[in-house]
Amino acid sequence: MRLDERTVNLFDKKMEELQKLFPSAFSNGKVNLEILRELLGDRVDSYPGRYELNWPGKGEARRLAEVSSTFKFHYVEELSLGKGNSDHLYIEGDNLEALKLLQKEYFNKIKMIYIDPPYNTGQDFIYKDNFRSNRNRFMKLTNQLLRKEAGSWGRYHSDWLNFIYPRIKVARDLLKEDGVLFVSIDDHEFANLKLILDELFGEDNFVGNIVRATGTTTGQDSGGLGSSFDYLLMYRKSDRFHVGGIPLSKKDAARFKLKDNRGKFSILQLRKTGNDDKREDRPNMYYPVTAPNGDLVYPLGPGGYESRWRMGREKYLELEKDDFIYWKKVKDKGWIPYVKYYLDGRTKRPSTLWDDIDGNKKASLEVKKLLGEKIFDFPKPVQLIKRCIQIANAGEEDIILDFFSGSGTTAQAVLELNVAEDVHRKFIMVQLPEKIEEDTSAYRKGYKTICDIGRKRITMAAKRIAVKIQDSDRYDLGFKTFKLERNISTLK
Ligand SMILES: C[S@@+](CC[C@H](N)C(=O)[O-])C[C@H]1O[C@@H](n2cnc3c(N)ncnc32)[C@H](O)[C@@H]1O
Repeated sequence: MRLDERTVNLFDKKMEELQKLFPSAFSNGKVNLEILRELLGDRVDSYPGRYELNWPGKGEARRLAEVSSTFKFHYVEELSLGKGNSDHLYIEGDNLEALKLLQKEYFNKIKMIYIDPPYNTGQDFIYKDNFRSNRNRFMKLTNQLLRKEAGSWGRYHSDWLNFIYPRIKVARDLLKEDGVLFVSIDDHEFANLKLILDELFGEDNFVGNIVRATGTTTGQDSGGLGSSFDYLLMYRKSDRFHVGGIPLSKKDAARFKLKDNRGKFSILQLRKTGNDDKREDRPNMYYPVTAPNGDLVYPLGPGGYESRWRMGREKYLELEKDDFIYWKKVKDKGWIPYVKYYLDGRTKRPSTLWDDIDGNKKASLEVKKLLGEKIFDFPKPVQLIKRCIQIANAGEEDIILDFFSGSGTTAQAVLELNVAEDVHRKFIMVQLPEKIEEDTSAYRKGYKTICDIGRKRITMAAKRIAVKIQDSDRYDLGFKTFKLERNISTLK
């Protein structure tokens, strides 16, 4: 393993610190792991081996996350939007460096992170760090001889994992205790990504794997199955995170057909149905209630067995007093009680299948509408990110980070949802100034890097909001741009 000089110096420094803490574990400047282990006592995990995904270069990837950044942020007024007083940030640069720098101000402060990293398509992976696993290095790490066709997928997986691992490791530290991470991914790295997220967040913090219909089927001519969805892996920082509800669809809302002075409502039988519906399951939920004609009504299941209500007597009397009980007279059965559920303010628990939101075509159209031409491949739909924000329970003043921001979909989602819900969330976008190829229409239109596209899209989305609403001053519709620049003082 070859580390650059700066990293070696940093390691030496950390070793010195360790030596100060545990001097007896050192002799001749070298650490004796046995003694260190003894000194640490039961703080050491003594379970032999460890269940985790391993790949060539993982150790370096882990260390890379620990090495501090040699960059600093540099504010660029002419690339910012608004009067320089915006709390939204647009950071132009490599996201690993940016994430490390953000730790100073945003450690434990971010409510939600959404990322859509480059999917690994088995092409040579273009986004590489200094320590990249190029073909020769990969062969060395895996003790393979250099042969022309050897080990293609293994290297691609390793490259991708070496790239993503340190970034997610550093990003996790930025999340609040009640924060949450969403990662979009496709089949190529889904299995690997799930394992490293389990490792970095803990399996207990896996919230779910959402299957998102892309709205189009690709790869049908490949001889295999066509693909019509990708995934969204969701991890919370800790159990202080709670899943937020999502707005009801038109179809859901159509079920609220009844109306009273409080508004539209739907009804649910007071009697428990399904499992555990017998009197003996909850004896205190078997009691008579009084029907509108004065009859005493008991919970009886089909065929007349003794069943139970959904709640105890006290709670029932409260609902009855507040007019939340609805009675229906059914032929041959008499009076049947129901509980009223109102439409207003109701949300629903999200499921893991999202086939009811805009797909990829609509996402491309959204960008085209703002920028006039199709100049960014594969943006994600704004609606997808809005739903993530809702599920994340991200509210007033919460910060939302996207460190693979591409065309800036997440920023648009934050701005639009803020206005729709009258809240003031803040975004932080990070994007590499990846060069745009010269033979593209984006280049001909004047966009030199992806950052130019991202900033323009956010600017246009903000302008569109400003013309649509009257009190646009209430909302932060700008952003401040920062670029990463070498921190000369750290190079000494
Ligand atoms: C799949 S795209 C994200 C698209 C985005 N979700 C959207 O809706 O427009 C991934 C983005 O990550 C960017 N990227 C790749 N490596 C990066 C790095 N090291 N730092 C910052 N951005 C990076 C790429 O330039 C690309 O724009």
